[in-house]
Amino acid sequence: MSTQRKTIIAGNWKMNKVTSQGKELASGVVNGIKDKVDLPEVVLCPPFTLLHEVLEATKGTAVKVGAQNMDYRDDGAFTGEVSPVMLVAAGVTHVIIGHSERRQFFGETNSTVNLRLKAALKHDLVPIVCVGETLDEREEGLTDAVVRRQVSASLADIDESDLETIVFAYEPVWAIGTGKVCEAVEADRVCGSIRSTINEYYSRADGPQKASKSSAGDSIPVLYGGSVKASNVDEQLALPNIDGSLVGGASLTDKDFLPIIEGGAKRVKLTPSKA
Ligand code: 13P
Repeated sequence: MSTQRKTIIAGNWKMNKVTSQGKELASGVVNGIKDKVDLPEVVLCPPFTLLHEVLEATKGTAVKVGAQNMDYRDDGAFTGEVSPVMLVAAGVTHVIIGHSERRQFFGETNSTVNLRLKAALKHDLVPIVCVGETLDEREEGLTDAVVRRQVSASLADIDESDLETIVFAYEPVWAIGTGKVCEAVEADRVCGSIRSTINEYYSRADGPQKASKSSAGDSIPVLYGGSVKASNVDEQLALPNIDGSLVGGASLTDKDFLPIIEGGAKRVKLTPSKA
């Protein structure tokens, strides 16, 4: 296992908060960690309307700001969309891609995830690519097949050398917003399988030379998301394949989110190379 992977704690605010609340929450997070050491990378992903306020509140700090989605085109007649160019110009550094709520409610597919991922890499945005199975798929024993397909499809036509900044998040759909947490050991297993899928995807067995094995996946951070809270984060982050958390509900107050960041800090402290 690589020792180079970062620990990342990201808050996905989803469609919550108006201006004053967003400012207050971002400032609460910034103030709550300002004297702390061994911090993980902290990323706040507010709705588009709050990006400006959150960027202002986090200016000059190590806290990063991400969008929850973006179009894959640079500009044009696409009413209602926001482009990677606009995000970068605004100061945003990260973007969530392929969240299950986008797949479920807004027609996101494996191929549009791939287009968005390519656009994010082209514009130097750090993509947090979400994958995960539904309850039906899990009950039918399809978890690994679904997740492997989502991972491979997202990487189509992307060169291994362009993967440097990519982050994956395993978010089992049945564990999102339901209070049902995926058992830490099982989440760790699937996060490991995401990494080995990436390695297999970039390994070649058919070239004129002898087979070449890729270890691209070993340095890619894989987060777990789905009902993460202060009471379960330590168990998750103690495992070798889970490099951080993508947090929904518990990122909506600093009281809930700061202890999760603290959980990330414990992982960094135990393995300083994971800062
Ligand atoms: P919850 O933490 O509310 O389950 O949401 C997880 C999630 O979807 C983060 O992207």
